[in-house]
Amino acid sequence: MKKLIVTIDGPAGAGKTTVSRKLADRLGYRYIDTGALYRGVAYEASHLGISSEDDERLKRLCRDLKLNLTRSKDGLRLIANGVDITSRIRTPEITMLASAVSARAPVRDYLLGLQRELGKEKCAVFEGRDMGTVVFPDADIKFFLIASQKTRALRRYNELKLKENMTIEKVEEDLTRRDANDSNRDLAPLKAAADAVIIDSTDLNADGVVSAMMAHIEDV
Ligand code: C5P
Repeated sequence: MKKLIVTIDGPAGAGKTTVSRKLADRLGYRYIDTGALYRGVAYEASHLGISSEDDERLKRLCRDLKLNLTRSKDGLRLIANGVDITSRIRTPEITMLASAVSARAPVRDYLLGLQRELGKEKCAVFEGRDMGTVVFPDADIKFFLIASQKTRALRRYNELKLKENMTIEKVEEDLTRRDANDSNRDLAPLKAAADAVIIDSTDLNADGVVSAMMAHIEDV
């Protein structure tokens, strides 16, 4: 088996999570959801009442925080200092807070080290915003997944509506605000690496995207 680092970046709702998980299964690789790590920091900050602008306290929080992604039969679990916080990190509040803390240097520095550590063994699919640009500039193959704004909002809405009392308008508004934050920040903004393969998933289902990716991976 080839030992590769595969990166998948792109905006919210482009289908990265479903595709990354399926691709990792096809390859027999680990799947690393780096958004969950940012969500974990956001959750811990909110739990301790730390403002997303307080770099000093964020730095201390990260120094004392041990985040782990573990596999279970129900998928990936996020463990923070020994506590499973998986079910607490997908609320609309933590989603927006993750975007805010992800713009801060102490948080990005901390997670940069952790992500590179996780990549040491290779054989992994890393999903995020800056995987191909900053964390793994030498990744073996990089993908950047896009889809139309309407499609992305609808996908996110379908994911959320069972859990939250959301309208499609509110979902689209949050998504647009988050993408603007993520794309316009100074540190590691969301963008495609110059050498990334760009895939538009607007008219493709997850299996279609995975097949397109496999065709590229076979050439590596
Ligand atoms: O992918 P997900 O929606 O779970 O990511 C939550 C937030 O974490 C994103 O909006 C982004 O601000 C941040 N993030 C990041 N860099 C990554 C992954 C996520 O800044 N590599």
